Amino acid sequence: MSKVMIFDHPLIQHKLSILRDKDTGVKQFRELVSEIAKLMCFEATRDLPLEPVTVMTPVGEAHCKRVAGKKLAVVPILRAGLGMVDGMVDMMPNVKVGHIGLFRDPETLEPVKYYFKMPPDIAERDVIVVDPMLATGGSAVAAITFLKEVGVKHIKLMDIIAAPEGVKAVQDAHPDVDIYVAALDDHLNEHGYIVPGLGDAGDRIFGTK
Ligand code: PRP
Ligand code: URA
Repeated sequence: MSKVMIFDHPLIQHKLSILRDKDTGVKQFRELVSEIAKLMCFEATRDLPLEPVTVMTPVGEAHCKRVAGKKLAVVPILRAGLGMVDGMVDMMPNVKVGHIGLFRDPETLEPVKYYFKMPPDIAERDVIVVDPMLATGGSAVAAITFLKEVGVKHIKLMDIIAAPEGVKAVQDAHPDVDIYVAALDDHLNEHGYIVPGLGDAGDRIFGTK
């Protein structure tokens, strides 16, 4: 069974409280999504392997550690996942980025795929899927399935807010995928929105409502 890690770091929780506020405007919302992604990235990459390296300081030899050339990719689920990419790339400037376009059919809540573009060597990379919201889990389950179909073996899922229903759906479909969230909320409403959540993440990032 996959693990669910809830990042209760004070800075993440502080920023999340502003993000949830219905009066937070587009500019600040976008900035906060990016900042939270950066802080979450810091935690979610805690298990990256290191290798020893010796460098010369102005004073002498220092025995240090560097990330051991692990091949990573960040894959946002469009649209809202795009808001998390900058924060991730700030932390890992050489990371490759793939894109999966999915939207939720408003009637059935089933994910509809409209775009899939990955770095050519994606099958050799560990992937962090990013999306601010994990609601029914349909989008995340589908995105992870598409990645596995092209050969990806190690996948992590990073969401800012998750509903218990979405966590269960991912755990049932992909028990090998660990889930990182900043908050685990109460439930979904009859429209599939997370309660209390933050509303429609895509609309709030892109100002489309
Ligand atoms: C939102 C969100 C997730 C999905 C979560 O995207 O960004 O991708 O809903 O819901 P689920 O867990 O029930 O699948 P949406 O479909 O609204 O598309 P958008 O990002 O283009 O606005
Ligand atoms: N997608 C969103 O953007 N928000 C929700 O609460 C659920 C799905």
